[in-house]
Amino acid sequence: MTTRILSGKTIADAIKSEIAAEVKTVEIEHGWRPCLAAVRVGQDPASEVYVGNKVKTAAELGIISEHHHLPVETSHEDLLALVHDLNANNDVDGILVQLPLPRHINEREILEAIDPAKDVDGFHPENVGRLSLGYPSLVPCTPAGVVEILKRSDIEIAGKHAVIVGRSNIVGKPLAMLLLKENATVTICHSRTADLAEITSQADILVAAIGRAGFIRGEHIGAGSTVIDVGINNFSDMETASEMFPAEDLEKRIATIEKRGSTLVGDVNPKDAMEKAANFTPVPGGVGLLTVAMLMKNTVTAAKMRRKI
Ligand code: GUN
Repeated sequence: MTTRILSGKTIADAIKSEIAAEVKTVEIEHGWRPCLAAVRVGQDPASEVYVGNKVKTAAELGIISEHHHLPVETSHEDLLALVHDLNANNDVDGILVQLPLPRHINEREILEAIDPAKDVDGFHPENVGRLSLGYPSLVPCTPAGVVEILKRSDIEIAGKHAVIVGRSNIVGKPLAMLLLKENATVTICHSRTADLAEITSQADILVAAIGRAGFIRGEHIGAGSTVIDVGINNFSDMETASEMFPAEDLEKRIATIEKRGSTLVGDVNPKDAMEKAANFTPVPGGVGLLTVAMLMKNTVTAAKMRRKI
């Protein structure tokens, strides 16, 4: 099977240049630029990279950004107070509180405190409810990115069987709603699903969002399907590397493990996907790049809605 690799970079670059043009037009016609406030608490290394990318991308597109980095011992009340300040600040269009938060902070209460009109992550119950009703809303960035990849790669969604593995509030559940809106027949599988491979192998579009390196193997993948890999995991096991990576990629991956201690893999075994799928998103270089692009798009959308243009 020749597998088409769906490049997240190419698609994210196209979206970002559209956003940059839109930001420029808004500034010329209305005299303001959208503003994103990113909040990070503590020293989670992955969060540091993600928030860094978000702030850097905002700058590239002409979006103003504020980075609020708070110490790990920040109290729940102090974080809540910051969210209230950002809600009240008329210059701020989008608020993003990076997850996970330290354990002593009540994540749910923080997310519910964000003004739904500024909720560029789409995590507030009001936006979740609007999405499931099919109303316009701010939509979680990673699921929105998955739909953009499919559409911009001319992959038919309507009438197709989409199987999502993973039922998280950030990816699995909102993606089910988005694909339903696009008229797919949607199945959600999870850790308690009986005979997973029996279901996933029937998918026209298979989305893996479980958080386990290479969990989806050949037996789970239908021949000729589209496989979207949302996972981002570190992989360092030299002994099983030849089962994980296709021959043409193996040497480079081993060199990366030797140099950095690990290499990034998704939730899908890339060697198996390259043998069975017609379309496949790589890790790195796939869905992850879309998440940031869609956050920028949500920031512009929120700004235009708030400022009524
Ligand atoms: N942590 C992992 N993914 C996300 C995301 O999309 N948004 C936020 N705020 N935190 C995350």
